[in-house]
Amino acid sequence: MNAKNSATGSAREALQLDVATLRADTPGTDRVIHFNNAGCGLMARPVTAVMVDHLNLEAQIGGYEASAARAAEVRGFYTEIAALVNTSPDNIAFAGSATHAYATALSSIPFEAGDVILTTRDDFISNQIAFLSLRKRFGVRIVHAPNTPEGVVDVDAMAALMRIHRPRLVSVTHVPTNSGLVSPVAEIGRLCRELDLLYLVDACQSVGQLVIDVEEIGCDLLTATCRKFLRGPRGSGFLYVSDRVLRAGHEPLFIDMHGARWTAPDAYEPAATAARFEEWEFPYATVLGSAAAVRYARDVGIEAIARRTPALAARLRDGLAPIPGVRVLDRGPNPAALVTFEIAGWQPQAFKAAMDGRRINSALSFREFAQFDFGDKDVDWCLRLSPHYYNTEDEVDVVADAVAELAGSLS
Ligand SMILES: Cc1ncc(COP(=O)(O)O)c(C=O)c1O
Repeated sequence: MNAKNSATGSAREALQLDVATLRADTPGTDRVIHFNNAGCGLMARPVTAVMVDHLNLEAQIGGYEASAARAAEVRGFYTEIAALVNTSPDNIAFAGSATHAYATALSSIPFEAGDVILTTRDDFISNQIAFLSLRKRFGVRIVHAPNTPEGVVDVDAMAALMRIHRPRLVSVTHVPTNSGLVSPVAEIGRLCRELDLLYLVDACQSVGQLVIDVEEIGCDLLTATCRKFLRGPRGSGFLYVSDRVLRAGHEPLFIDMHGARWTAPDAYEPAATAARFEEWEFPYATVLGSAAAVRYARDVGIEAIARRTPALAARLRDGLAPIPGVRVLDRGPNPAALVTFEIAGWQPQAFKAAMDGRRINSALSFREFAQFDFGDKDVDWCLRLSPHYYNTEDEVDVVADAVAELAGSLS
């Protein structure tokens, strides 16, 4: 039985999406207008409390003894993530970052010269670099599916490329780092299932702001971080590994004494579960903080979060679009809560510093982060603003007004 089904029956007390209460739980909201949730979300009190508590326990009784004492809570990391993405705890591996999860997943695929990786023009920068590295070492071929004129991957073209190339791997980033685009991962997943193709989804920016259901997406592997829209601590992420992949015997290249048993001097046996993709050493305070963050998000309600968060971003786009000298860059239907725009006359660092000076947290993106997308849009840099459910409509309006003032200050 999937965790989702079992969780539905449990008597979890829902933390209503009451913005005032949630902000009272989030000390950072007193200090800054945090519109950098796509970088790192603001942690809520229960997340930091559990981490500080665990560090104190480590100091008092010893690190190994502390993790043994909190074994049940550590298990909570797997049950929470499994419930979040609709799978079983045995299909979840902890990872130190989304990139580490992604690289470990890639390392489990026995690429050979000529194998095709089919991806999109909007796959994350580090994924694209990893493909190029695989090309350098193994001679794989990288095929990028084209986008439609609306700027979203052309699913029909992708289907045709799947049939022509029979790719060894299909990789799609759900929401990229450099815009609010939402890729049709479930439509692509249906094609992958029909054609029995290995399918890896990067859900780093979507988990915690959109509903993620690995069964509905139909992916074999899915990677994410806990620090962004899940509002967990830095240094934690996860990898979902399907039963199909586990049964097929995929294992990371550098499997260790946690992922495998050394059964004889010249033999080892990989773990039967996704633990195969983990390493022995864990930052336990971070694991517990991540479990608390996921529990918190589920108590707030992912469906409610997925309604409110993109709606705040839409309000922000509406505020920015009419400002002279500002061009909003996000494309595709129902964009996520990453709002990107360019502003005439400003240099990137100076513009971000002007926003920082107004206590508005933001992030810069450069062409190097998104060679295809920024090339298509003909921009060299943009500012990214990423609100979350705990932000307010007033904050959105303050931020739009600040951008209008800065745009006007040069004319
Ligand atoms: C879409 C996407 N994928 C992957 C990553 C990498 O995540 P991490 O920094 O945890 O490795 C990011 C980080 O910004 C991202 O935006």
